Amino acid sequence: MKVVVPRELAAGETRVAATPRTVKRMDRAGLSVHVESGAGVGSGITDTEFRESGAEIVEDRAALFSGAEVVLGVNPPDAETVERIPAGAVLVATLNPMIEKDLVLRLANQGVSAFSLDMVPRIARAQSMDVLSSMSTLSGYQAVLLASMAMPGIMPYLTTAAGTLHPAKVLVLGAGVAGLQAIATARRLGALVWGYDIRPVVKEQVESLGAEFLELIDTTTDAEDAGGYAREQSEDQAARQQQAMTAHLAEMDAVITTALIPGRPAPTLLTSEMVSAMKPGSVIVDLAAERGGNCELTRPGQNFTSDHGVSILGPLDIPRSVPAHASLMYANNVANFLLHVCRDGQIDVESDDEVAVGTLVTSGGRVVHQRILDVLEIPGN
Ligand code: NAI
Repeated sequence: MKVVVPRELAAGETRVAATPRTVKRMDRAGLSVHVESGAGVGSGITDTEFRESGAEIVEDRAALFSGAEVVLGVNPPDAETVERIPAGAVLVATLNPMIEKDLVLRLANQGVSAFSLDMVPRIARAQSMDVLSSMSTLSGYQAVLLASMAMPGIMPYLTTAAGTLHPAKVLVLGAGVAGLQAIATARRLGALVWGYDIRPVVKEQVESLGAEFLELIDTTTDAEDAGGYAREQSEDQAARQQQAMTAHLAEMDAVITTALIPGRPAPTLLTSEMVSAMKPGSVIVDLAAERGGNCELTRPGQNFTSDHGVSILGPLDIPRSVPAHASLMYANNVANFLLHVCRDGQIDVESDDEVAVGTLVTSGGRVVHQRILDVLEIPGN
């Protein structure tokens, strides 16, 4: 089976969907891997390394896609790339299909069987294929470094001959994958850390990392859906939470926000009034910037300082800033998924396996994922 790894064309992308290690794994499984020349450059992987691991390097994009049976990617492909994918081929990438309606319809029309790795069910046996967790882990880590670099001081407690430095105080809002990694990283850098989430179930995880869990409002009922994700709060709950949080904000040197609700804009946790309660010189890193931000003042993709002297960072695409590890983790997720759905050198798109079904977006010329049909309001086909 011809598996192809094109160079990512999205502006600013540094990642690649395979590494020499995953090429070796695919090669051992009997797959014939073809990598577009230069595909690994942004991640520091040379054509030679890919070749030595068993891949064929292809200069010409048309030749790469010709006869492709499986295409591995990082981002949603552009229209021109979709046209290059042969009908009946399998695409494995992150497609953002709940939002990318045109892309989903284009893939269906092209006859591509498209698996979207951001749809991998959040179940224990699929963890090794979960790109959202991989990328959130890196974002959570990097957010603390960004905060540290933007702060006027450093994080740890230090007693020196030149005086005592008190530890920074860091509050992490939203303790999912990114938030827990931010808590762990801030602790490792020596900060005093508080964590908060509307799902009370994460209290123990926050505490196990050496942070204190803020109990702002009573969320023991219906904070979480059946899939373990947060539910959207009522206006009253959100207002009570904001009020209770304000008192803590004045103490903090950095606030890292990571709160998301699947399929919804990011909830507002920090209003402009709350930001003005923070100390001048303190920092907000809003990891939810891509979905509008958890802070009312966030400007996605920009860093600025408020009138009151609070630095507000709205970073986008953080994993791209650590391409070596982002590609390592992403490519492992891709290979784990591909080898999971591949049996005897073939991919059974009709499989009733929960991971395959939950991830398959289009097949046989149709959109086959019910939730996507519903959300995008595509008439049943
Ligand atoms: P996410 O990125 O959707 O949200 C981040 C966090 O924000 C969540 O913890 C959520 O509860 C919190 N949040 C939402 N609204 C909030 C608000 N108003 N105030 C404060 N916090 C708020 O979540 P993520 O990180 O993708 O994980 C969600 C769930 O999935 C968790 O239960 C996690 O343990 C579970 N999970 C399971 C996996 C598996 O079993 N394969 C893999 C990864 C996550």
